[in-house]
Amino acid sequence: MIRKQTSHNQTDGDLLIEIRMLAPGELRRAAAILAHGMHDNPMHVKAFGTNPDFRQRRLLRFLDHLVAYVHSNGKVLGAYVHGELIGVLGMMEPGRCRPALIDSLRFASTIVASNPPAGVWRIHRWLAAWARNDPTDLHWHIGPLAVRSAYRRRGIGRRLMVRCCQHMDALAATAYLETDLEVNVAFYETLGFIVTKREFVLGVPNWFMSRSPSGVSDGSTCRGSCPGRTG
Ligand SMILES: CC(C)(COP(=O)(O)OP(=O)(O)OC[C@H]1O[C@@H](n2cnc3c(N)ncnc32)[C@H](O)[C@@H]1OP(=O)(O)O)[C@@H](O)C(=O)NCCC(=O)NCCS
Repeated sequence: MIRKQTSHNQTDGDLLIEIRMLAPGELRRAAAILAHGMHDNPMHVKAFGTNPDFRQRRLLRFLDHLVAYVHSNGKVLGAYVHGELIGVLGMMEPGRCRPALIDSLRFASTIVASNPPAGVWRIHRWLAAWARNDPTDLHWHIGPLAVRSAYRRRGIGRRLMVRCCQHMDALAATAYLETDLEVNVAFYETLGFIVTKREFVLGVPNWFMSRSPSGVSDGSTCRGSCPGRTG
């Protein structure tokens, strides 16, 4: 089981990387890493505002809540270098990406309490667009994902995603994710994800991607010639 797994890999000079499940006491730290790492993602700039300080605070409140939800309804993986948490990946179990009413209300109250009315409206439109695109078939919902900027391009994000994909293959499960950066599309494609749809949300291009177990397409998704796809 993934819960018991840890692994080490010497990817770059003296970097000793360990991938393991986060303990409950690490969730706030994980949210802070995600908020910092995803601070400039275009969808977050659009939803949480252009002021970097306000955006950081609002995003942190949002991710605090989201990480706790993902931890209770799936798995949160951490990447550690010399024992320090430097990367985070969430994976929500099938059916859990449509929260129960009580969870939705809690989430909504967090958003309303920490954002101005126009921001609440933008966040609502963003999350509604993502919910509308959510596959009806059973799937694990992957994300959020971020690696601390000082440790990027050293294979850590890939290690987290490979662990996730190994888990999907062991369960013969479909994985699904959204991204707002074309550079990430290419990254996920190398892991067996394919673009199923591209849509502008609040004017920001979003890619919706799916991965069949072992990276084999089930034929219901399109490859390079998806309508509207630029990448
Ligand atoms: C996406 C992210 C987690 C990848 O983590 P990472 O540790 O840098 O990933 P890796 O070193 O394993 O690199 C993975 C691949 O991603 C691609 N990639 C990532 N960032 C890139 C960039 N700035 N420019 C070009 N390629 C990039 C490359 O294909 C890279 O492989 P390569 O280094 O062999 O060329 C990290 O860039 C990040 O935290 N980004 C900000 C938050 C975010 O966008 N999260 C994902 C939301 S869907």
